[in-house]
Amino acid sequence: MSAVPKPMLELVPMREADVDAVSAIEQGAHPFPWTRGNFVDSLRAGHSAWVFREAGALVGYGVLMVTVDEAELLDITVVPECRQRGLGGTLLGQLFEVARSHGAQRMLLEVRAGNESGLALYRRFGFAEIGRRRAYYHGKEDAIVMAREL
Ligand SMILES: CC(C)(COP(=O)(O)OP(=O)(O)OC[C@H]1O[C@@H](n2cnc3c(N)ncnc32)[C@H](O)[C@@H]1OP(=O)(O)O)[C@@H](O)C(=O)NCCC(=O)NCCS
Repeated sequence: MSAVPKPMLELVPMREADVDAVSAIEQGAHPFPWTRGNFVDSLRAGHSAWVFREAGALVGYGVLMVTVDEAELLDITVVPECRQRGLGGTLLGQLFEVARSHGAQRMLLEVRAGNESGLALYRRFGFAEIGRRRAYYHGKEDAIVMAREL
C-alpha cells in the first residue's frame, strides 16, 4: 500500500487535548497571555479555534469569534522558533477563509499598541486602525482596534 502524502501545513480544529501545548506557547508569546482556562472556556463557548501544524508539529494557533457578519480575531500566535518565515501570514489567510465560510464580511481585532510584529502583520494583510482603547491591557497599555473587509 502506498502512503498518502500529507500537506506540510494543515489547519485543524483545536481540541481540549491541544490546550496544554497551546497554553504553554501562549505564556511565552504574550505579555498578557490567555490562561489555560481561557482556552478551555473559549472552546466550550464554541469559538472557532484552530491549531496550525507543519509536518505534524504544532507551529501556531488562532481563535476567532464569529457573530452574524463579523469575525473577531481573539488570538493568533506562531511559535518563536518558526517566526518570520511566512507562517503567521499563511495562518491569517486561512483564518480569513474560515471567517468567510461562516458568512463574516469583516474581521476585527485588538492589538497592543507596542506589539510591533503584530501591527506589522496586520497592516501587511490589509487591516486599518479604526479606534483605540486607552489603557486596555491591565490599565497599562492601549489597544489599537483594527478592521479589514473580507
Ligand atoms: C505576530 C506573529 C503571529 C507573526 O507571525 P510570523 O510567522 O512571524 O509572521 P510572517 O512571517 O508570516 O510575517 C508576515 C508579515 O508580518 C510582518 N512581520 C512579522 N513579524 C515581524 C517583525 N518581527 N517585525 C516586522 N514585521 C514583522 C511582516 O510585514 C511580514 O511580511 P513580510 O515578510 O512580507 O515583510 C508572531 O510574531 C507572533 O506569534 N507573535 C507573538 C504573538 C502575537 O503578538 N500575536 C499577535 C497579536 S494577538
